[in-house]
Amino acid sequence: IEGEEQEDQDRSIVQALRRQNRRCAVIFGSQTGTAEAYASRLSQDGRSTFSLTTMTCDAEEYDWADDLHNIGSDQVLIFVLASYGEGEPTDNAADLYEAILGLADQTTGRELPNLIYAAFGLGNKTYEHYNKVVHDIDGALQKLGARRLGPVGEGDDAGGTMEEDFLSWKAIMWDALSKHLGLEEHQTTYKPMLEVLPRDDLSLQSPSVYLGETTAQQLKGLAAPAGPHQPFVATVSESRELFRMSDRNCIHMEMDLAGSGLQYQTGDHIAVWPMNSSVEVDRFLNVNGLLERRDSIIDVRSMDPTAKLPCPTPTTYDTIARYYLEISSIVSRELLARFAPLAPSEEARDMMVKLNSDADYFTQTVTSRYLNLAQVLEMAGGGKVWSSIPFAFYLEGLSRLRPRYYSISSSSLLHPQRVSITAVVDTANLPNRSGLWKGVASNYLLAIKQGREADSSNNNATRGSEGASAYTTTGPRGKYGGSCLPVHIRASKFRLPDDPATPIVMVGPGTGVAPFRAFLQERVAQVKANLPVGKTILFYGCRNSSQDFLYQDEFEEHKKVLQDRFHLITAFSREGGSKVYVQHRLKGNAAQVASLLTEGGHFYVCGNAAKMAQDVHSTLVQIMGQHLGGREEHGLEYLRAMRASRRYQEDTW
Ligand code: FAD
Ligand code: 2AM
Repeated sequence: IEGEEQEDQDRSIVQALRRQNRRCAVIFGSQTGTAEAYASRLSQDGRSTFSLTTMTCDAEEYDWADDLHNIGSDQVLIFVLASYGEGEPTDNAADLYEAILGLADQTTGRELPNLIYAAFGLGNKTYEHYNKVVHDIDGALQKLGARRLGPVGEGDDAGGTMEEDFLSWKAIMWDALSKHLGLEEHQTTYKPMLEVLPRDDLSLQSPSVYLGETTAQQLKGLAAPAGPHQPFVATVSESRELFRMSDRNCIHMEMDLAGSGLQYQTGDHIAVWPMNSSVEVDRFLNVNGLLERRDSIIDVRSMDPTAKLPCPTPTTYDTIARYYLEISSIVSRELLARFAPLAPSEEARDMMVKLNSDADYFTQTVTSRYLNLAQVLEMAGGGKVWSSIPFAFYLEGLSRLRPRYYSISSSSLLHPQRVSITAVVDTANLPNRSGLWKGVASNYLLAIKQGREADSSNNNATRGSEGASAYTTTGPRGKYGGSCLPVHIRASKFRLPDDPATPIVMVGPGTGVAPFRAFLQERVAQVKANLPVGKTILFYGCRNSSQDFLYQDEFEEHKKVLQDRFHLITAFSREGGSKVYVQHRLKGNAAQVASLLTEGGHFYVCGNAAKMAQDVHSTLVQIMGQHLGGREEHGLEYLRAMRASRRYQEDTW
């Protein structure tokens, strides 16, 4: 019993605040690490600007339903909650969401009058349920009689304004919160809560030193089941290019899950844990004067017992830059203020101050050119090394390197241990800047594919070896991974109907076809098993029938098995004079689509075109409106009901 009581106390946020002598808990619901990074920044703000005792809390580490009744009126909760998919909470905030909404559902009165809170949501305006999670939580807390400080903040990922949305919200929020608690704002120099200490007693060969996920697992043996806190290092069993055009290419990759204990279901996502390219790692270490010491062994320690370490320790500077920090993405404007006093020259300091304080100048100089932190330091420093910046500033100021999600393009029924993905390589020519901008994970996948080719042909002169060498490190690490890829599985709700006889309509242009490849594999297997399989329509779009048509051969093979049950309807956007998109084809096949849906069919949309999912939705609203008597409202209502009964499902990004 004592043990159980202790466990209950450990999972109580109110007890944790009291035990740690803190007034404010910043609670995050984070899928990819951004909300977590924002929560940590709020905690730092509270400490350094208002002397407010704060702690950063992972929502999944606490129980929520009963505990909130015990909160003191001198305590404050700040929620930083991302919405995901169709307005769902992140995995780590699912229990919090259910508990608070459940409490509000059952309440008979204003049960939580002592609860004081602030809330910021991270979402994407292209989704119908923009920032639904934070609004649902706010609505529930209001109903429960809690008091909110400041407005509900909304960050929009799609508009690229997330960072500025966050900065504007938090200025208002801190104003309200400091007034409420009677805190005075004071200008302090930022003091990190982490420290980095040399470990001269260890070497790169020491078994306890972490050198990235693959070595970590070799060191530990196969540790606990993989999940968002620890990946499984899968073996890449196949990799090929599905197409290569002058400005884009697409990779099909298969990973072996054998021995991992991991399971997936058709429609799930796989998270790939990428690494930064050597170009960016070298740039980052160089501008900080750490290139020579890249392999020095260091310990990372926290002065705050409630804080989580951002990386395993002991480790090296190189390892942290390569595997644990988001060094390649656009730098945040706020971070630059911390660096200004440590600039190597007056000009550099002035530029950092201007970049930090002048949002327009920052947009024009940094955002529009996608400059990362090291590039800004290079530009402002004019070639000088920024050797006075404590490494802990980076550990606290930069986000953790995010795993990237991919919709699994294989069927778990057919390939329970083998997961495939279909990934476009994100690369762009940037204006006003030499060279290419390269997305982290997709270029890492490309490099793995190229490295495998170079290994098998032993031909270093292929185009592949260039890309692969961008991820090759010298020294005792050798070539990272080779054919290894750290991954974990994320369950989704994107599912085929339980009954294979139910008709389905799938809309998936580009890599949006990924989960539908899996759906089709499954339906083919069901036909082969003599199950009654319903009508299966796929609307597929790409630029050109002869260049970027994904899995065309496979679909032709499926047609032979599924016969007239399978209908592939294509939209090639760059073949004729005007653009033809999947939604145009949908309109052209309105009668068939509408009658399948009114017969109980399921409708699925998947893809990465920012507007595509909305365009498809509004086209279907029109189609169903007409089918149901001519009014669009009827179409809208019909689709709402379909969504509620999970007959309309989206997997978009
Ligand atoms: P990053 O390094 O993460 O960079 C991408 C970011 O860079 C963009 O978000 C944007 O902020 C910025 N950016 C955009 N354009 C430019 C530019 N021109 N110059 C500089 N910066 C720019 N992708 C697939 O290919 N296939 C899938 O099946 C798939 N499924 C997904 C499923 C889900 C649930 C989610 C959330 C995403 C999915 N994605 C899929 C997208 C994938 O996760 C990655 O976002 C994508 O591969 C890019 O990652 P990256 O690391 O290469 O790029
Ligand atoms: P485009 O690039 O020629 O405009 C896969 O990327 C396919 O999706 C391409 O043919 C692309 O066309 C198309 N696409 C781009 N925007 C779209 C939208 N809003 N709706 C549907 N398809 C779109």
